[in-house]
Formats: sequence, C-alpha cells, structure tokens
Amino acid sequence: MRAAAPPPVAFRAAVLQNAPRQTLESTVGTSLATPSFTERLKAVANAVEATLAALLCDDVRPGELARPPRLVAAMRHAVLGGGKRLRPFLTVETARMLGRDEDDGSLRAGAAVELLHGYSLVHDDLPSMDDDDLRRGRPTVHRAFDEATAILAGDALQALAFEVLADPATEPDARIRAELVLGLARASGLGGMVGGQILDLAAEGRWGGEARLGADEIRRLQAMKTGALLRFSVEAGAILARARPQERERLVAYGRALGAAFQVADDILDVEGAADEVGKRTGKDRERGKATLVDALGVDGARAECARLVDEALRALEPFGSHAETLREAARFVVARET
Ligand code: IPE
Ligand code: IPE
Ligand code: MG
Ligand code: MG
Ligand code: MG
Repeated sequence: MRAAAPPPVAFRAAVLQNAPRQTLESTVGTSLATPSFTERLKAVANAVEATLAALLCDDVRPGELARPPRLVAAMRHAVLGGGKRLRPFLTVETARMLGRDEDDGSLRAGAAVELLHGYSLVHDDLPSMDDDDLRRGRPTVHRAFDEATAILAGDALQALAFEVLADPATEPDARIRAELVLGLARASGLGGMVGGQILDLAAEGRWGGEARLGADEIRRLQAMKTGALLRFSVEAGAILARARPQERERLVAYGRALGAAFQVADDILDVEGAADEVGKRTGKDRERGKATLVDALGVDGARAECARLVDEALRALEPFGSHAETLREAARFVVARET
C-alpha cells in the first residue's frame, strides 16, 4: 500500500501547501536554502531573533492590559541577542525535512521553545540555583536587574511560550496546537526540565543524605533537565508537519540521543572551555559538586559517551536518507561546538 502512495515528504508538502504561511525568507530577507550548515543555522537564528523581538515589543498586545517596561526589558535581556538557537533550528529543520517548508508556523513554534529555554536559563542562573553572573557573554538577568525581576521575567517568558503555541497564528489546526502545548508542558515540567533541575540540585547534596549518583542516574537527570526540551524541539517539527507515527518515533529517538549528547558536551565545555569563549563561567560544576558524566566517567569516558550518542542519533535518521542531512549535521554540531 505504502509503495503505491506518493513519497511521504512530497505528500505532506502537497497537503500543507494550503496552510496560511509567511516564508522565512520574507521574515529574514535571507534564503535558508544555503548549502552550508553554519549559514543555515545563522539564517534560522536571525529569523528567530526577529520573531522573538516582535513578541517582546513594547506595544500592548490583544488581551493584555499593559506591558510593564522593567519586565519587558528583563525578558528582552534574557532572550535577545545571543544563544545558538539550536532548539528552534531543530523544530524548523525537522518540519522542513518532512515537507513543511518556509513556514512561519514552525518558526513561531521554535521561538516558543526558545522562550521556554530562556526562562530555564534565567532561573538556572539565580543565586539560589547555580548562582552564575555571566550568560551569553553578558551579566545574567538577576545581575543586570535584580533577583525579583529575574524570577518574574522567567515566569513571564514561560507563560509567553505557551501563549505562542496556543495562538492560531502559529498553527490553524486546534488539535495540532493542543498537541504542541501538551508536549511542551510535559517536556518542561515536573517529569521534564524542572524535575531534572531539582534532581541536579539534590545531587549537589544541598538537602543532605544522598550518596553520589551513578552514571545511569546522571543520565536520567540529564535526560530530564536538558534532554526533554531538546527532544521536544524535534518532536514539535514532526507534529507541525504531520509526521506518521513511525517517522515521529524515529525523530523522537534522534531528539533523545541528541539531547543527551548536548548536556554531556556542555559538561565537557565546563571543564575544558574558557569563559570568554563559552560566554558563561566555566569550571563551576566541580566547584559546586554537580553530578556530571565527566565526573562519573572522566573526560575520555564522557567523550566516548558523546560519540556513542551521536551514532545513536544518526542511526535513528537512517530511514530519512538524504532528506536528513541537516539533522545529521546538527547531531555532529552538538558535540563539536565550542560554545
Ligand atoms: C545551555 O544551553 C544550557 C543547557 C541546557 C546545557 P545552550 O548551550 O543551548 O545555550 P544557548 O541558548 O546557546 O545560550
Ligand atoms: C542547565 O544545565 C539546564 C537547564 C535546564 C537550564 P547547566 O546548569 O549545566 O547549564 P549552564 O552550564 O548553566 O548553561
Ligand atoms: Mg544548572
Ligand atoms: Mg547552570
Ligand atoms: Mg553547564
């Protein structure tokens, strides 16, 4: 039956061509159809920047009573003008691979994930959490403003992320919007990012008692605090592009492996990177007694883990053949990056 059907990618491109859309090119004035991975990453990052800037404008938007200037300034400080924008890139490129091309909806969905990620960083840096004063080469939000403003900016970024996903401007089909909202909520809450963050803090020993975590416990903690949102970034693209169940399963497996590799690479950068290159203070994980795979397995062991996870991510993409080249490069980028 499948053999007689049109190729999935072309099929979905035809199905989706009636959806209202604005091209990424029209948003950024740059073609994304460039051969180089880094150029493509940059083009999506520019488009994401423009989308985030529009969402964080001064003008009061429908349903709002006012936009308090201090709060909007802190939110802008948190999310504009920095970051690799890897999460929205994964959303846009996954949707693109499945035929949802040049689409403002995938860009907005990616921006929603980036807003959620931005909130997680603001709170992660707070004095009561990791107590960091440098982020993306600039003072953290609680340093540039104050702690109460940083907490509230994080709260408002989180709410905005869900607002963007629930907005028909992102996706006209309400069922798809509900699936996106559900997915982001699960990836970011109790059993996802926030849950992982409390396990991360508990593993420092701050509430006493716990023995050092074993490698598998660290893998689970990291799958929650970092992996869940990266996995969802990929899944959001699959949801938007109406991936078939088997395709979605493969993409989720890819996102899970990439997400795990991402945090191990972050932990290696903490040991080997310099703050002026990485844009955040390094050497802090050991100082704070963080549970990392670098600590549990050594740097070489952590590198081997990264290599294994990239292989796993690449294997998951096999059925997509040459369509998946950009996602393959993204998996390699995650462990080769220097920031
Ligand atoms: C940093 O994420 C926090 C982790 C989950 C390890 P990124 O390395 O993606 O940070 P930005 O967005 O590029 O600054
Ligand atoms: C952050 O992990 C995970 C989040 C949910 C934000 P880290 O604490 O290692 O991230 P950095 O090193 O501060 O960016
Ligand atoms: Mg942390
Ligand atoms: Mg931190
Ligand atoms: Mg880190």
